[in-house]
Amino acid sequence: MRSLFLLSGENLELAKAEVLSLAKAFGKILHYELDERILLLDYKGEKFFERLAMTHELCESVASCSFNELRDQFENLYLEGSCCVRVSGIGIKSDPELEKKLGAILWKKGYKIDLKSPDNLLRVYFTPKACHIGLLRFKQNKKQFRERMPNKRPFFMPIVILPKLSRAIVNLVSLKKGLILDPMCGTGSFLIEAGLMGLNFCGMDFYRDIVEGCRKNLEFFCLRGEVLQGDVREMPFKDRAFDGIVTDYPYFKATRSGTREELYSKSFQEICRVLKNGSRAVLVTNLDLKVLPLRIVFKINHRVHGSLTRRIYVLEKSVE
Ligand SMILES: C[S@@+](CC[C@H](N)C(=O)[O-])C[C@H]1O[C@@H](n2cnc3c(N)ncnc32)[C@H](O)[C@@H]1O
Repeated sequence: MRSLFLLSGENLELAKAEVLSLAKAFGKILHYELDERILLLDYKGEKFFERLAMTHELCESVASCSFNELRDQFENLYLEGSCCVRVSGIGIKSDPELEKKLGAILWKKGYKIDLKSPDNLLRVYFTPKACHIGLLRFKQNKKQFRERMPNKRPFFMPIVILPKLSRAIVNLVSLKKGLILDPMCGTGSFLIEAGLMGLNFCGMDFYRDIVEGCRKNLEFFCLRGEVLQGDVREMPFKDRAFDGIVTDYPYFKATRSGTREELYSKSFQEICRVLKNGSRAVLVTNLDLKVLPLRIVFKINHRVHGSLTRRIYVLEKSVE
């Protein structure tokens, strides 16, 4: 089946990587291509769209065509039930009358037009290159991310990753189910998203007050998972205990727990040790890292403001 994903424009690379990482975890990617913010994906497998953070909409593809072929596509459409047509220009301005014109074609063919709750919501995305027609299957619930903003939780720290970005980063681990570790969990932004997506999770932080705060945040969302006090440089876990790791390094040169160099080098060894073979570790940092502990799958930059760009490293441990 071919699907059309309308990706969020705030970080297109990340939005695309999120979809592909989940598609890999839930099934098999046959082919994909990107046209502006539309990702066309030929995929075989289970549905995963409820987990997405950086996709606005998902449609089952009906056709992709040129502007001149659009009318014919609508003339030849066969659907069951009432219809509504919604048109969006992506990277291009669309004709405001087009929705009515395309709706009129369907009406003449005998379809009932229902603008409020149609059986078929036809989405037409225009790009400078093509028109993509699809049946809407999923619309992002943006409200959920506003409701989970860090200032609405019992425990808050200034440098936290916001819920939408946290969810997208957790999804880069490419895990359908299993146990995920954040060994520097802070307020628990990654753990909350992992838990809400049904993943098992374990958190750890160096400081007792932060561990207690994180536990309160998880309780607030009725999530169960272990959070312990510990040091990422010497983790109290068995070898290959986790199906995925996601973590966000401190942003300062030195922390109360030691120097930055030592934190990175020792944590890298530990991350390699506790991660299962063939699994991913997603490391977030403000640094451009020269040496990495595992094979790099890809790296994405995410600009927060003038003086902070987060680097998201997606790494994989070999299968062996
Ligand atoms: C950038 S913050 C993580 C923020 C987190 N992603 C959130 O959204 O709340 C980095 C965290 O690493 C923790 N940390 C620093 N050194 C550590 C160490 N040696 N072992 C474990 N945690 C450590 C800090 O206490 C801090 O909570």
